[in-house]
Amino acid sequence: MKKSSNDRINKVAVFARDYLKSSAQKKGYSETDFRTRWYHSLRVANYGKRIAKAENADIELVVTACLLHDICKFNSKKGKNHGKKAAKVSRNFLLNQEYSKEQVDNICYCIASHVNGDAGFYHPHTIEAKVLWDADIIDKFGTFKVLKMAISGTNQLNKCTKKIKKKIKKLKKYIEKEKMQTKTGKEMIKTQLKKQRDLYKNLEKEKTISKLPKI
Ligand SMILES: [Fe+2]
Ligand SMILES: [Fe+2]
Repeated sequence: MKKSSNDRINKVAVFARDYLKSSAQKKGYSETDFRTRWYHSLRVANYGKRIAKAENADIELVVTACLLHDICKFNSKKGKNHGKKAAKVSRNFLLNQEYSKEQVDNICYCIASHVNGDAGFYHPHTIEAKVLWDADIIDKFGTFKVLKMAISGTNQLNKCTKKIKKKIKKLKKYIEKEKMQTKTGKEMIKTQLKKQRDLYKNLEKEKTISKLPKI
C-alpha cells in the first residue's frame, strides 16, 4: 500500500482502538476484554489483506472495514446489531477522512453486513464485503480462539478435547454448507480445519498417556 494509504489506515486504527476501548470502559468491561476484541480485529485485518490480495479486492477498503467491523461489540445489547451500529459510527468518522462517498458506502456495507449478511440498507454485495465475511470466520477458527474456548471454565483434558471436537464439527459445517464467499477464504478455512484436527489428535494422544504406565 502507498504511504497515503498507510497514513489513512493508521488514523482508522487509532479511531477504532480508542472507540472500542472507551465503549468497553463505559460498559464495565475489563482491559483484557478490550484487548481480546482489538487483537481479533487486527488479525481479521491481516487475514483480510491476504484474501483481498488474492481476490483482487481493494486492500485499503478491506483493511479499513476489518479494523472497524467490531467497534460496537461492547455497546450493542443484541449481538446481532453490532455490525449495523458500527457502520453508523464509522460513517461519521470516514466522511471526515479522505474517502469518497462510494468508498464510504462500500466500507459501511461491509461492516453492516458482516454479522448475518443483512446490512439494513441496499448496496451491491461487493467483493470487499465477501472478504471481510471470510476473514472474520477464519479468525473464529484460529488456534488461539479454539484453545481459549476449550480451556474456558475447565482444566480437564477430557472436557477440552470434547469442546475441540465440537468446534471441528462446526468448522466442517462451514465447509460443507459452502459458507465461505471467496476462493481464498475456502482454502484458508480448510487449513484451519487441518490445524484443529491436528490439535484434537494430539490431545487425544495425551489422553491415552494420562494414566500410569505399564512396565
Ligand atoms: Fe462481529
Ligand atoms: Fe469479528
